[in-house]
Amino acid sequence: MSLAERVFAGDARAIARAISLIEDESTAGAELVREIYRRTGRAYLIGVTGPPGAGKSTLVDRMIAELRKAGQSVGIIAVDPTSPYSGGAILGDRVRMAAHFGDDGVFIRSMATRGHLGGLARATSEVALVLDASGKDIVIIETVGVGQDEVDIVRTADISIVVLVPGTGDEVQALKAGIMEIADIFVVNKADREGADRLAQSVAAMLALSSAGPPGPREGWRPPILKTEATSGVGVPQLMQTIEEFRAHSAATRATRQRARQEYRLRDLLSHRFMHLVEESLPDGELERIVDGIAARKVDPYSAASAILKTVCGTRPATSAAAASRGRARTKAVLDHVGIAVQDIDKALAFFRDALGLDVEMPEEVASQRVRAHFIPVGESAIELLEATANDSPITKYVEKRGPGMHHITLRVDDIRAVLDQLKARGVRLVDEQPRPGAEGSLVAFIHPSAAHGVLVELKQK
Ligand code: CO
Repeated sequence: MSLAERVFAGDARAIARAISLIEDESTAGAELVREIYRRTGRAYLIGVTGPPGAGKSTLVDRMIAELRKAGQSVGIIAVDPTSPYSGGAILGDRVRMAAHFGDDGVFIRSMATRGHLGGLARATSEVALVLDASGKDIVIIETVGVGQDEVDIVRTADISIVVLVPGTGDEVQALKAGIMEIADIFVVNKADREGADRLAQSVAAMLALSSAGPPGPREGWRPPILKTEATSGVGVPQLMQTIEEFRAHSAATRATRQRARQEYRLRDLLSHRFMHLVEESLPDGELERIVDGIAARKVDPYSAASAILKTVCGTRPATSAAAASRGRARTKAVLDHVGIAVQDIDKALAFFRDALGLDVEMPEEVASQRVRAHFIPVGESAIELLEATANDSPITKYVEKRGPGMHHITLRVDDIRAVLDQLKARGVRLVDEQPRPGAEGSLVAFIHPSAAHGVLVELKQK
């Protein structure tokens, strides 16, 4: 079974392996995402964020317990540098997994916040795809809402829960960091602490100020402010209930939110790929020299960016260099027509003209080949029907030997002599070493079918 198939089957070791491939930014990881992508989109993504020390991990553990009681399978991605697991993500997973030991319905994975060249948000979203593909009903993404990365991760979940905690002084910072706007539900955790009510009131006051709220999935939804005590589990059932309410409320607009997530991913991926292309296209150290130049005010960033764009997109040095190094000649050719040998041209017309409804040009007699030809234009190309007019015609021989059917394809090139020289230089077997006159002042030459893998290829220059 392939890794993807084992992921589909929910095999925990395969899931772990798949996530490692993604974390390593390996090509195998990218290939896996390609394979599993069609089977994703089913899991409900819950983003949980908040300042360090808000008790998110404990709260998430309580949520897992509630979801398991309800018969839902859960995948958890913990992106949390301040959690006790940050010292060693694997140790942390073991500690947390111990609570769900032997439960196939739970998969927990911590992610390092550093070392993701392509960005933490993308790595996280790809890991979420793996858990989604593995059949988990719910995927919880737990982050510390302190940086833009973390906010971006949670912004694109199906629901965003912002966890705050009283009395740490962090609440103000957290609200400033822009996570206020992303919350679908506010949770004041450690609600038994002094200042919990005050915190809830200040969040309510801020919400009141932000008028009707942004349009979109939250339309008509006023983010509720819930109180929990994660250590004892107080308030967690109400939280789960509220998540369900939001899910029902936003069901109609979930597609919009998912689309926003896909767009974010695509743009992120394109930026990443493009930067990669820039780095590959520029000579070693060139980017650094350009940055030095900008820092020294010798060049402005706009001119530098334009110059880089021109280098990268204008000349495509990588492609032509690669082609030249492999000694591959480049021929610009278009498919002129496909020749079909037929036994009876009128019967063939009954199909191509009458049944298919294609327009047919006037027939031509080609005396030298002893054939009658009918051209049927199809877009930029054409079908050529060929009927023998004498027993010694090449078409008679062809039909006798192989039966009616495709006889040749004709490629139109700009310089037929150059193409023939190029083929000769490579020892390709030709029917015509030199071009000969064809119809309407054209030049034509045939390549032997043995060289073209069983197809007779005609070259043509207008
Ligand atoms: Co032809």
